[in-house]
Amino acid sequence: MKNIKVVIGSDHGGFEYKKAVIEYLKNHKIDYIDVGTYSYDSCDYPPIAQKAAKKIISEEADKGILICGTGIGMSIAANKVKGIRAAHCTDTFSAKASRAHNNANILCLGERITGKSIALEIVEVWLNSEFEKGRHEKRVDMIE
Ligand code: RB5
Repeated sequence: MKNIKVVIGSDHGGFEYKKAVIEYLKNHKIDYIDVGTYSYDSCDYPPIAQKAAKKIISEEADKGILICGTGIGMSIAANKVKGIRAAHCTDTFSAKASRAHNNANILCLGERITGKSIALEIVEVWLNSEFEKGRHEKRVDMIE
């Protein structure tokens, strides 16, 4: 994996996994920006999704990881930002395909849905998968 910066965010429903993913990033010497939340207190996920998305659009970060209870709220909110392709993944096959075929720039995870070990495996696969371009490029362009 080339040097990348990852923006990471969660609400209270994803806070435990955010800590685990940060641990993963630290262990792999991957630079990150943490846009919150910073405690288990209940909070709203849309502003956190938007903050993370904007870091990617402004090129302060290359990729993002957003976690909430299901992964759904974060993906819906992040995908409202033009230029964001957020993929909610619950398995490694989708994680790889979301990079290879869809050039996803945000990975969304659901802490109440996906087991921690699987979630961390998804992170690993997603961060290490590249966009295949070719026939997929024009399709991604169509989205934009
Ligand atoms: C919070 O209870 C929960 O609604 C949130 O984490 C997320 O799952 C929303 O999609």
